[in-house]
Amino acid sequence: MKANGVRLLVAGGAGFIGSNFIRYILAAHDDWQVVNVDKLTYAGNLANLEDVEGDERYRFVRADICDANAVGEIVAEGEPDAIVNFAAETHVDRSIDDPGLFLRTNILGTQVLMDAARKNGVARFLQISTDEVYGSLGSWGKFSEDSPLRPNSPYAASKTAADMLLRAYFKTYGLPAIVTRCSNNYGPYQFPEKIIPFFVTLMKENQPVPVYGDGGNVRDWIHVDDHSRAVEAVLLGGRPGEVYNVGGGNERTNIEITKLLLAAMGKPESLVRFVPDRPGHDRRYAIDDTKIRTKLGVTPQVPFEEGIRETVRWYLENEPWWRAVKSGEYLSFYDRWYRQKGRS
Ligand code: NAD
Ligand code: DAU
Repeated sequence: MKANGVRLLVAGGAGFIGSNFIRYILAAHDDWQVVNVDKLTYAGNLANLEDVEGDERYRFVRADICDANAVGEIVAEGEPDAIVNFAAETHVDRSIDDPGLFLRTNILGTQVLMDAARKNGVARFLQISTDEVYGSLGSWGKFSEDSPLRPNSPYAASKTAADMLLRAYFKTYGLPAIVTRCSNNYGPYQFPEKIIPFFVTLMKENQPVPVYGDGGNVRDWIHVDDHSRAVEAVLLGGRPGEVYNVGGGNERTNIEITKLLLAAMGKPESLVRFVPDRPGHDRRYAIDDTKIRTKLGVTPQVPFEEGIRETVRWYLENEPWWRAVKSGEYLSFYDRWYRQKGRS
């Protein structure tokens, strides 16, 4: 795809990864323009992008990606060169609590965006998928792009369905669609329901942290800026019809992550509570990123321990940001999922 004067439509840009990606792109490319289309669900927050609000290369439009009329108009008017779709319902526990919205946004919303891209001849469609489509690993091996798709949660199943639709639109209509599948991201502006910001905000208040099961589940952590760099590289150099895995190479058990956070915050291990497990909890994720490294020269750059220390510092320095979002609707989910299910 062309690298100069790119007009980018980012869907879901008010969330964690989307907002970090927009900030990264505007800093990296003077002559790119970004339209951010977001419904502003509980996870969408314009405060994440306060620092770029006044930038004339950036524009926000509030819309639901499932709304075909709205999306059709935005794409026809904006004539983007590329669409990057971050918009999704993303929290696995919420998908277990109530799957319906996940299927609507993550599958039908993606279809609506792809139809608009197709009708308007958009040159690239990049779907931000997840390693969760591959299911769970035992104690050895890694997910490659050819691993079978075996999603285990309603969230993962909805993301897998979208990946399959992408494939079908590429084969059937020639939509220049590419899929990235990344592992667990961490960094600033992550909604404090995901383990790292959730635990940091609990520890700050000396509250117990609920570790599911035996704490031995493994995730492969990547800093959100490394994810942004990978998405940029795939956008510019990836081949339509292809899938690219993105990983951090930082496998850690949840109890290791918890102890790292406790140490970074100077808190005692007595805050750890082992609580009833997440149903269908995937045991281990690990990414084989040989393809993106060899074909596009992408390697993660943020050293894990340093990235975690900086991330903890960010949440401690931005308490008003997380206090504002840990309220309202969030509290009713917390009550249903943790208190009523004996997880607190
Ligand atoms: P997030 O929950 O922080 O943000 C999601 C954003 O999408 C929010 O701004 C929300 O308002 C918006 N959105 C939701 N439904 C919408 C709709 N119907 N129309 C328009 N906007 C809508 O999520 P995130 O962690 O930033 O994840 C972004 C993407 O990356 C998702 O597609 C997710 O599946 C994928 N992903 C996330 C991770 C991770 O570790 N967080 C890892 C791999 C892939
Ligand atoms: O792997 C990529 C995926 O990572 C993304 O596709 C998802 O959108 C994103 O939410 C994330 O999913 P996880 O389920 O891995 O993230 P979460 O932060 O919810 O959980 C990480 C691990 O921590 C997981 O093994 C469950 C555990 N956990 C989580 C919470 C919220 C706990 O032990 N206690 C908790 O309270």
